[in-house]
Amino acid sequence: MTTTTIETTTDHKTQFLQETLAGLQSEPKFMLSKYFYDATGDRIFQQIMEMEEYYLTNAEMEILKYQAEQLSQAIAADGSPFDLIELGAGDATKSIHLLKYLTGNGLEFSYLPIDISEHVIADLEENLPKKLPGLDMKGLNGDYFDMLKRATELSGRRKVVLFMGANIGNMNIADAEKFCLSLKEILSPNDFLIIGFDLKKNPQKILAAYNDKAGITKAFNLNLLQRINKELDGDFNLEHFDHYANYDPASGACKSYLISLKKQIVNIGQNAIHFAENEHIFMEISQKYSLTDIDNLAEKAGFKPVQRFFDQQQYFVDAIWMVD
Ligand code: AVJ
Repeated sequence: MTTTTIETTTDHKTQFLQETLAGLQSEPKFMLSKYFYDATGDRIFQQIMEMEEYYLTNAEMEILKYQAEQLSQAIAADGSPFDLIELGAGDATKSIHLLKYLTGNGLEFSYLPIDISEHVIADLEENLPKKLPGLDMKGLNGDYFDMLKRATELSGRRKVVLFMGANIGNMNIADAEKFCLSLKEILSPNDFLIIGFDLKKNPQKILAAYNDKAGITKAFNLNLLQRINKELDGDFNLEHFDHYANYDPASGACKSYLISLKKQIVNIGQNAIHFAENEHIFMEISQKYSLTDIDNLAEKAGFKPVQRFFDQQQYFVDAIWMVD
């Protein structure tokens, strides 16, 4: 077993400041949901996943738990050794079911989790080998595309990329297309992508998942203001902002906003940001897909749909695509 951590040299704080200011100096204002996940944001997201209303996690967990064998068979293909690369691995509580099946059945593969968070990768390297003795793994800490390229340099084995958790939903459809196309360009013909989508369903069900009664999603959004206060010397007063979520069944876009409850000026370091009363900051998109939307995305990005795995209620799908 090998464990190595590869780190990037990006100046995260400078980038956070530049992207935050660019978003708040735009019209309309926006923030980037990738910045939700500091230590507190990670904790609040854990609470979201445990919420009654947030059906996504259980739905995808059900797929991985009960269909690991079928998933394994699909990606085992001709039985040749492969690299299983997970984008945004988190704590791997879902993928562990697949990993367990693969290791238990003597399939030759290396698990290469990629995560932007250094502590996520360190935790995985410490804990996964204990849970799955014999697992060959190598954590890659950094940007998805940089680390995916690194993985293609580390071995010539065929690749199976896992991109679960409906993380693709945090992009609008045009950006999702560009993202999948970039993935395809790094991969080779016959490589696989396993990608998780939250499906279009009753609009009330979707809206409730992003507008929970206890206000956990509100706290999740407000935490980014708190993070700016802490890391970028900001002076947001969290009580002067409220959370607003809406879902449009026509487009499948579920969007979160923060609303300024008064005319106010917020300082971030030396920069003054003006808010009108009721002005909104666009915080996050959670795009929902139909099966046709998913096949269209595959085709536009140069993939061929191979197989689909659903939970009982058909809330969620993990689709297997092959590089065409
Ligand atoms: C982690 C992107 C899948 O959009 O459902 C949950 C993030 N935001 N509640 C999602 C999120 C608010 C989540 N993803």
